[in-house]
Parts: sequence; C-alpha cells; structure tokens
Amino acid sequence: MKEKHCRLGLSPRRPGNKNILNPNPQKHMFAAPINLCVNPLLAATHQANGSSSVRARPNTKTQMEISGLDSNGRQFKNPDEMWQEEVGDSQKKHDWYSNGVGYWQGVEASVEGVLGGYGHVNEPDISTSEAFLNTLLARFFPDAGRNQHLVALDCGSGIGRVTKNLLIRYFNEVDLLEPVSHFLEAARENLSPENMMVSGDHKAVNFYCTPLQEFTPDAGRYDVIWIQWCIGHLADDDFVSFFERAKAGLKPGGFFVLKENLARSGFVLDNEDKSLTRSHVYFKELFNRCGLHIYEMKDQKGFPDELFPVRMYALTTEIPKRVGTSRPKRKSNRPAVIK
Ligand SMILES: C[S@@+](CC[C@H](N)C(=O)[O-])C[C@H]1O[C@@H](n2cnc3c(N)ncnc32)[C@H](O)[C@@H]1O
Repeated sequence: MKEKHCRLGLSPRRPGNKNILNPNPQKHMFAAPINLCVNPLLAATHQANGSSSVRARPNTKTQMEISGLDSNGRQFKNPDEMWQEEVGDSQKKHDWYSNGVGYWQGVEASVEGVLGGYGHVNEPDISTSEAFLNTLLARFFPDAGRNQHLVALDCGSGIGRVTKNLLIRYFNEVDLLEPVSHFLEAARENLSPENMMVSGDHKAVNFYCTPLQEFTPDAGRYDVIWIQWCIGHLADDDFVSFFERAKAGLKPGGFFVLKENLARSGFVLDNEDKSLTRSHVYFKELFNRCGLHIYEMKDQKGFPDELFPVRMYALTTEIPKRVGTSRPKRKSNRPAVIK
C-alpha cells in the first residue's frame, strides 16, 4: 500500500511535479494516477466491462462501500467520508464549485486547454463519439433522424469543441451550457455562422453561462443531452438532481450520452480542480438513483496509455426496448471459438 502511495505521488496530475510520463504540469484531468490504491477485493469486481445494454436495478439509495483516493494519495473508505469533507456544509459546497470553475477560468480557451494538454486526442475522441452517435440515432429515430428536426444540449461545452466537430452536423439546433464565460465566448465565436461549414439549418442557438448544478432545461426541448468530461465536477447529490431535472428536458424517446473518464475501481478525487473520477460501479449506482437505464455503452480506444479509460454511456429514462437492433443475428451453425 505504502509503495502504491509513493507511486501515486508521481502522478502527472500534480502540478509542478515533472516526471518522465508527463513533464507538462498543465496536463491534467485526463491523466490517470499510475496506480490506484483501492480495496483489492473491490478492484477485482469493479473492472471496467465494455459490454452493452445493462438493465438497471430498482431505484434504491444504498450506501456505497467503494474506497477511493485523492490526488495526494489520501485514502477514503467510502464516498460519504470524502463528500462529508469536501461538501459537508454549505460553505464547503460553495468552495467546491467555485474552486472547480476557478480552475478552468485559468485555462486557455483552446482545444489544447480544454483537453488538459492532450489536444491530439480530439480526433480519436470525435471519431469514436461519432460512431456511437450514429448507432444510437439509427436505433432511436426513423431514418436515423435525417428527416427530423433534432435538438441537442452540449453540457460543460467548454469552447464548443464537441458541438463544432460533431453535434452541429447531426442536430439542427444545439444549445451550449458552460459556466466559464471566456470558454463560452470562444464557443460563440467558433460556432458563429462565418466560422461554420454546415448549412444554415444547423446552428448553435442558446449559450447558457451556468453550471450544471444550477441548470434546468426547458421541458421537452432536447432529443439528446450530451455530457462530456464535466460530470466529475458534480457532487453525488447534485449529479442526481441534475439528471432528474434534465430528464424533463428530453423529448419523449430522447436520451443522454455521458462520456467520462473511468476509475478502474473506486474513485479518484482531484484536489486541484475539484473533480471526481468515478468507477463503472459508482456510475451504475448513481444512474439507479437517477432512475436512468444504460441502453448502450462503448469504450474509447486509441488514447495514450497514461490516461484514464474513457467510456460512453447512452442513458434512457425508460427500460430499453430493443426494436430494430442493428446487431447481426448469430447463426447457430456459424463456426465459433470453443471456450
Ligand atoms: C475537460 S473540459 C471539457 C469541455 C468539453 N466538454 C469538451 O469535451 O471539449 C471540462 C469542462 O467542464 C466545465 N465545468 C466545470 N465545472 C462545471 C460545472 N459545475 N457544470 C458544468 N460544467 C462545468 C469546465 O468549465 C470545462 O469547460
């Protein structure tokens, strides 16, 4: 355990700690601690599982017995212990959110900035997201939504990277929500008609300078609510209440896409930007509390090894009905690997 703590101290997430993996102290948020100190028993059962379509258990609130770490190597026996310290009273909660936004206020409004110094992951990120989105649109909408007026919300949009490179090509209207004003201004500029290559019937419409925990969408406006690399800033209670409000913002048959770093087990608290990287088990517990179902999930490929694994979840408010699945039917007489 001690040795693991020491190795965690080499984490590239720690500013000023120049090490062979990542000499750039700005590289942040995406970089995983080298070795997560977690309960080894839990680690065995919390391995990331890339399979799809998990039906959620009933919406019960249980105490999570998942241990975790912070970026200084401190261990917490469960999330409650950590949240009590971080957001246990209104002053602490205020500080948690202002430190989180304060971190990003000091970051340059660029792709490199919002990707924590890993600008080169933009391309594999977008292409994997696009493949996932295409699968979902084909399953959810007749003719993959091509003849429908589709509307999306890009949450924690930063400078509008996801909207510009992906969402605006598939959705007629995209709204952006981002609490850091210089990012949102950059998004407005990046998405202005003169800087866009898409036709006029695809446009960024509303730019909300608000954090997720304070946002309530207009009822029934969105086909898709996209939440990428920002939900870690929300404490568990705000995570749940955000999704509860956001569900009302979906059109009937709409869905969420959550794309996020995954802790291999437990959780990892970043003391600097006030964000939490959760494991798959942790996310599933929160989805249950939100009354959300995992319709599909897909793991990101092609990122540098030192980064956290990244997973995309498609989440629905109804138990998934698998109509018109595009998966190939397996023929019983097809040769198969003998297990
Ligand atoms: C890693 S960047 C990702 C930006 C964008 N989603 C992307 O993929 O390019 C994290 C973003 O989360 C935003 N953020 C921080 N706290 C937030 C909060 N409480 N609510 C919504 N967004 C938040 C930051 O300002 C920043 O733009």
